[in-house]
Amino acid sequence: MNKIAVFTSGGDAPGMNACVRAVVRTALYMGKEVVGIKRGYEGMIDGDFVSLDKRSVSGIIQQGGTFLQSARSKRFMTKEGRSLAAKHLKAEGIDGIVAIGGDGTFTGANVFTSEHEFAFVGLPGTIDNDLVGTDFTIGYDTAVNTAMAAIDNIKDTANAHNRIFFIEVMGKDAGFIALRSAIATGAEAVLVPEHTTNLDELVDQLVTNRTAKKSANIVIVAEGDDAGGAFDVSKYVQEKIPEADIRVTVLGHIQRGGRPTCMERVRASQMGIEAVKSLINGDTGVMIGLINQCVVKTPFSQAIKHHQKIKPALLEMVQILG
Ligand code: F6P
Repeated sequence: MNKIAVFTSGGDAPGMNACVRAVVRTALYMGKEVVGIKRGYEGMIDGDFVSLDKRSVSGIIQQGGTFLQSARSKRFMTKEGRSLAAKHLKAEGIDGIVAIGGDGTFTGANVFTSEHEFAFVGLPGTIDNDLVGTDFTIGYDTAVNTAMAAIDNIKDTANAHNRIFFIEVMGKDAGFIALRSAIATGAEAVLVPEHTTNLDELVDQLVTNRTAKKSANIVIVAEGDDAGGAFDVSKYVQEKIPEADIRVTVLGHIQRGGRPTCMERVRASQMGIEAVKSLINGDTGVMIGLINQCVVKTPFSQAIKHHQKIKPALLEMVQILG
């Protein structure tokens, strides 16, 4: 193993820069060359490579986004696209690859490694926290803290006006951002895709709260919930409680950017180091995660098949405490 490539793929996530920095510096420390692939699989297909040295990753540990940029590549879903990517990697003399991304990234990596012989390891990078094989994905801690801070602000104004707020958070088809931000802000209810939503029960709860003169009611809605988005849910509730003063906020991409938290930077750095060590030790086709602070390797085939499950005890916390 002489030359290692690193890239970020799918939705960007805070902490990706810290992770790339760790990959680059670990590889150099171990006497390897490093190149960055720009724009994920798109850059791999186009041969858009950039040589990285120690200084190339200076001053990025605290930055959100990804300086290598990212993409969701349709071309990599085709055999022709993947062949072109393999051709460019070979021409560049790359022996090992580190991919930082989510399940789409590992789905691509799984097909690619079945067709082409490259040592390929993955690191979980997504704000959604939906991957098995790791307690936390890179980006989740920052995103959930950003959501928490925004909800705290909304709560102030909700209290001042006796309003019901429906706040939609990201997460694709997973409810982890919704769940922990709901617990951390003392939300009255949370709707997540992992649990079938009963809107009439929600209405009953909100009516009870209003009767008990609760000044604010905050309902966190995960974007993938089966009852729909925050606007759909608010419409239903408004029809059932016409006298309620209701507002909706969709937090959107504000959750994807921003300075990574301390835990984010530390975990991302740890994972980056482990990825390089794994490649050098001959691992391939695995995603490297941290469970109970220990390094765990999960084959891509497993990482893409299963979805991280929500612990019912966490859902119950919202019910008991809200
Ligand atoms: O996977 C990360 C994520 O932010 C999801 O939470 C969200 O559903 C999606 O990406 C949004 O993607 P895009 O930025 O392409 O609209």
